[in-house]
This record gives sequence, C-alpha cells and structure tokens, in this order.
Amino acid sequence: MFEHDRPWRLSRRAFLAGSAGALGLAALPAWSRGLVTTDDGFVRLRTGPAAWSLKPVGPDVSGAWGYNGIVPGPTLRYRQGEQLRILLDNGLAQSTSVHWHGIRLPNAMDGVPHVTQPPVEPGETFEYVFDLPDAGTYWYHSHLNGPEQLARGLVGALIVEEPEAYPVDRDIAWLLDDWRLDREGQVVENFHDMHDVTHAGRIGNTVTISGRLPHTMDVRPGERVRLRLMNAANGRIFGLTFDDLPVHVIALDGQPVVPREPEGGRVVIGPGMRADLVIDYPAEADRPLVVRDDFYQGREYQLMAFSVTGEPVRDGASEMPPELPANPVPEPDVDGAETHEVVFGGGMMGGMGREQMMAMMREGMAWTVNGEPVASPNGHDHEPLFTLTRGQSCRIIFRNNTRWHHPIHLHGHHFRVLTRNGEKEPHQPLRDTMLMDPQDTVEVAFVAEEPGDWMLHCHVAEHQAGGMMGMFRVRD
Ligand code: C2O
Ligand code: CU
Repeated sequence: MFEHDRPWRLSRRAFLAGSAGALGLAALPAWSRGLVTTDDGFVRLRTGPAAWSLKPVGPDVSGAWGYNGIVPGPTLRYRQGEQLRILLDNGLAQSTSVHWHGIRLPNAMDGVPHVTQPPVEPGETFEYVFDLPDAGTYWYHSHLNGPEQLARGLVGALIVEEPEAYPVDRDIAWLLDDWRLDREGQVVENFHDMHDVTHAGRIGNTVTISGRLPHTMDVRPGERVRLRLMNAANGRIFGLTFDDLPVHVIALDGQPVVPREPEGGRVVIGPGMRADLVIDYPAEADRPLVVRDDFYQGREYQLMAFSVTGEPVRDGASEMPPELPANPVPEPDVDGAETHEVVFGGGMMGGMGREQMMAMMREGMAWTVNGEPVASPNGHDHEPLFTLTRGQSCRIIFRNNTRWHHPIHLHGHHFRVLTRNGEKEPHQPLRDTMLMDPQDTVEVAFVAEEPGDWMLHCHVAEHQAGGMMGMFRVRD
C-alpha cells in the first residue's frame, strides 16, 4: 500500500507486534476455513456482509462482502479431473453470479449474467456443476457489478491439484487484494468513480495477503515452498522482487511453464493473473528476507518478509524445481489460424477527440473495443467481435492504443502469447490473462473449444465497466 496515504497509521512497533504467529489459526487446515457442505454434496457459497478485522495492527473493516462471511471467500481445493459442485446462495440485496476464472468449462457454467445465465437475484440460488480438466492455480469472483462487488471482497482462491503431489515442503497461496479504506476502516463507497474509470482503475490504500496485512512469515532453513500468487485487486498491478532468494516460476495462470527465473528478476501480475513460484530458502539468514512491490515508481513498499528460523529441513542446496505435468490444453495451429484484430482505445490522454470522450463519459464510459464502448455492463446487447467454429485455431492481434496498462482476459480458453511488439514472447506461455503495457501490440493464438458466447475484457474492473469489454462466439 502507499504508506503515506494510508489513513490509519501503522507504527513500526505495531508492525512487529503483528508478525509471525499473532494470528495463528486452529487445528483445521487453514485453507478449509469457511467451507460449508449441503446434504446433497454441494459446497455452499453464500454471499453477504463479511465481518472482518485487520487487528491487531489495523482497523476492523466495515462494508466488506464475502462468501460465507469471510474475506477472501473459502479456498476451494480439488484434484484434477474432479467435479466442482457449488451452490451459490445470494444473500446480498443486489444480484450476483460467480465466474470461475481460468477454468475451461461448458459455457453455461461460466457465470456471466445475461450471457451464460440469468443474474442470481437476492434470495435466489444457482448450481454450478462442471469438471476440472486442468490442474493449477485459479480463482473465482463475482461477475456482476465488479467495481463494487470485487472491491467489497467477493473473491476467492480455486486450486486444482496435480494427480501426483508436486515435491515441495509446503504449498502456500497468497490471494493479493487491494482496498480503499477510510480512517475508520470503512470501504470507501465511491465505486464507478469517473477518475478511476478513466485512469488506472480503483487503486486502494491497503494491500492484503489472503485477508491479512503485510507481515513476517516464518520459514524453515532449506525449506522449499510452492507459492501460488493470485491478483484479485480491482486495478492494482503487482511487480514483486524476492530479495536474494532463488525463485523459479513454474506456472502462469495455472498452466505449467519450463521452470525459470522471473523475467528481469521481477514477477509482474496484473488483476486476474496468477503465478506459481518455487522458493528455496537458505540454510541460514541473519535478517528477514523481504518481498517488495515496486510496480509503481516512487510508491514501492514491503509486501511481506520471511524469517528463516527453526529446525533445518535440509542444508539449503536444492536441485532445480521439476517441471509440472502439462494440462490437456489443445495447441493452436498458428499457420492455419484465422486472424482477428482487437483494438483498445480511449482513457485519459488517449488521443481520442475531446467531444467523443466527453460524450462517452456522460454515459459512464471511457474505453473502446474496435472503436465502440460496450455500453452494457455485460456486453449482452452487442454483436460478437468475431465468430469461430469449434475446433478452429484463431490468432488475435491485440493493439493497446491507450496510455494505460490493461490485463486482457479471455473466458473459457487459454491462449499462447506469441509475440509482443513484433518480438517473440519469451517462452510463449499459455495464459488466460495477459498484461498489455501502454501502446503494446500482442499476438496470441488459441483453439476455439466449447460452443457459446465468451467474454473478452480488461480485468481492471473499472475499465471493464467503462466499456473495455467484448464477446466472441464459438459455434458448433
Ligand atoms: Cu476474472 Cu470476466 O473475469
Ligand atoms: Cu484496462
């Protein structure tokens, strides 16, 4: 967070008091917190107000919403190939839905109101049932009124384990989020603020790691940890460095990559994106090892610290982490692919005519996809940007004609990132969300899989609501 604009002060003494162990949880595995099962084998997720506290060093938070009353929602853990069965039960005073970000699933289960299902009205329920074809780190979140429902906390981790346990000493998930809180710890209710919509989205003043403030975590000498990072923030991008620690990226957006050091020593994750890391802790360290976020220049801060302590697990020397088994994602035929172009425009200083920008802003819009803002929050009254036939390979050239960063997400598909500004993308990863820098041109390819209408949008909630949203159709 930006220490200088955080309204509630945090002294260094308080920071230390909140360190390791102060919030120790009970005997159940921490991840199973908040899980409720119905008699007929559904896991129930009930949306509603969440009582939540950043004590002992932060405020009680008011105005947060959660699944089953907790923030973030319960962590859902399955094994690859298992079936997810969730009963969404809407305890809010407004309609909602759940999107299973990054999961390849039948269109009817994708959770987009008006497009794949009716909105779930207050007091109503909806059953999500589908198989989980891919192992990896995914997440779930509301797909309605994102600027408010995401900002209030309707997000959670969805982890699909490989059939064989990956060889690490510990598997840890950090769901990163960002809050705009006032002096009393109340969620500031200026959702859809036009400044946020036209600039970088809603950037908050308080960063949390799976619902906790930055703190110090104990690790054992020589321990090998798999760290699953998820960015559930509305607008904040994280650019993380890991001190002197040996870090390897083993998966991006759930999909395995050949283990490698992070590009430029930094792990960059925009809203919606994930990265799985393997960290090998040294046999000893005479100071805490720190994770810093330096994405925004001049606004760097310490996200977390590791204290190496206790019985050694091993003497520190570890081999390269092994490669994760590939998921059964179809490989696009790039040469035989049909090509489409998607151009993003608008935003402040975007070179759009003043008249046009003002006209859009009167409607709460600020962004365009192929020249048009999508005026409906869900794009359901718009024609598809393009139509594909099931099984067909498609190449999209994305152009970011704006002065802003945009994490672009495709529903229901993972695409290979082929090139960026004419250069081959290092390792050409498979992703479901990719970050575009201002003025970037990025070329991706994928195979159209399940028939239906699939969303394609910027994952900055305020950009999405401000017009940066489209849809493509896959027909049988
Ligand atoms: Cu994670 Cu359409 O969203
Ligand atoms: Cu955007």
